[in-house]
Amino acid sequence: MSRLVVVSNRVALPGRAGSGGLAVALQAALEDSSFQDRGGLWFGWSGDIADGTSGQLHETRAGNIDYVTMDLSREDHDDYYNGFANRTLWPLLHFRMDLVDYSRETWDAYRRVNALFADRLAPLLRDDDVVWIHDYHLIPLASLLRERGVRCRLGFFLHVPMPSSDILAALPHHGRLFEGLSAHDLVGFQTSRDLERFQDYVRLFGRGRVIEHGVLETATGRRLRAGAFPISIDTDGIARQAAAAVGKSSFKRLARSLSGRALAIGVDRLDYSKGLPERFRAFERYLQRYPDQLGQVTFLQIAPVSRGGVIEYQTLRSELEQLAGHINGGHAEPDWTPMRYVNRNFPHASLTGFYRLARVGLVTPLRDGMNLVAKEYVAAQDPDDPGVLVLSAFAGAARELDAALLVNPYDLDGVAAAIARAVGMPLEERRERWQAMMTRLRDHDITDWRRGYLQTLRAA
Ligand code: G6P
Repeated sequence: MSRLVVVSNRVALPGRAGSGGLAVALQAALEDSSFQDRGGLWFGWSGDIADGTSGQLHETRAGNIDYVTMDLSREDHDDYYNGFANRTLWPLLHFRMDLVDYSRETWDAYRRVNALFADRLAPLLRDDDVVWIHDYHLIPLASLLRERGVRCRLGFFLHVPMPSSDILAALPHHGRLFEGLSAHDLVGFQTSRDLERFQDYVRLFGRGRVIEHGVLETATGRRLRAGAFPISIDTDGIARQAAAAVGKSSFKRLARSLSGRALAIGVDRLDYSKGLPERFRAFERYLQRYPDQLGQVTFLQIAPVSRGGVIEYQTLRSELEQLAGHINGGHAEPDWTPMRYVNRNFPHASLTGFYRLARVGLVTPLRDGMNLVAKEYVAAQDPDDPGVLVLSAFAGAARELDAALLVNPYDLDGVAAAIARAVGMPLEERRERWQAMMTRLRDHDITDWRRGYLQTLRAA
């Protein structure tokens, strides 16, 4: 039995609100009974910006999990987090070369902060630890830990898409990123498509050879495993939470406010990868094209502000404000506004209630590694009267949830038609589709995800 060490840029500190699916999933992994006797460690950024230099550590303990977090200076936060991670890697990994902003300065900061993570983390590690590193912020970390003599098992999981090799090749230093990835014993991706694109990159750019599917040898002779491990949710927990939410005041308030109209819901971080302007426009198209349904649906978009220090996110925010105003201005009635647009976050228990209330779940990212909102929407439905998921074919979740109404988010007419179809879908068809998706989510939940990954890592 070994200790599990989780490393991610964001850490869900006890007592502080978590930040989305990643945080919830990792918390559960650390609490997993198979690691309980040895405890766990979660290492990452503190979420705070220090006045002076980076690297100040903070430690807390809850149960038998240690949380060790590190402050970042203003400059490092700007250049590593806002800069290379979120203005270079994030758009690139989401196939948005038009938004990629590259500079030597932010690349240096990315390397520097990863090296500082390695400096601070290495002394805390024991040889029999299992270290699980998460996401694009920390791609070079494993190689930097190895340079510092760390010998334990190191695994990586990429929560976002792996782009095609031609896109990756547009990044100066892509070879260095590959070196970082290949310092792990296991590299995990969300879907088999991501894994294939990684293997293509290895072949096409002469980084090594694919010995067999999921087993690679680098040009320098290092062997590693790679695999697809689609992340999932606590399916039964969410189903229970959503059923209980029906009695809560947040649910009742929303239900009352609809005055008998159907609810369509979208819940996303305010991010350009989520396809929000396209979704808003598709909803407007729906209002224009389906006059027989006019006034029957209210669309609620919840979009908490994300990465507000990054210019592309600020621009998106203005665009959405303008669009929401335009749509309501053009289509509202004195007693009905077609869309409600909210930039606040809600407690998870309220959100699952909102999902249950919604006849239509709109999850239409232009690109998404997985998208756990799609999975949570399904798990939250009332089995007797389930709603319909309208899901982008470009979300990782579409590979498992193919009983949703799959759409191309760029095709506004297609999305509008899917909304209309969802609103009018007979109960029997709704149940059939929902049952198929729920069966998959029960078979493959969050526990299954982390056990599958960690078993493979231990065996690697
Ligand atoms: C995505 C990323 C995560 C990230 C989360 C929230 O899910 O894959 O790594 O933590 O977004 O973004 P933020 O920048 O607030 O951490």
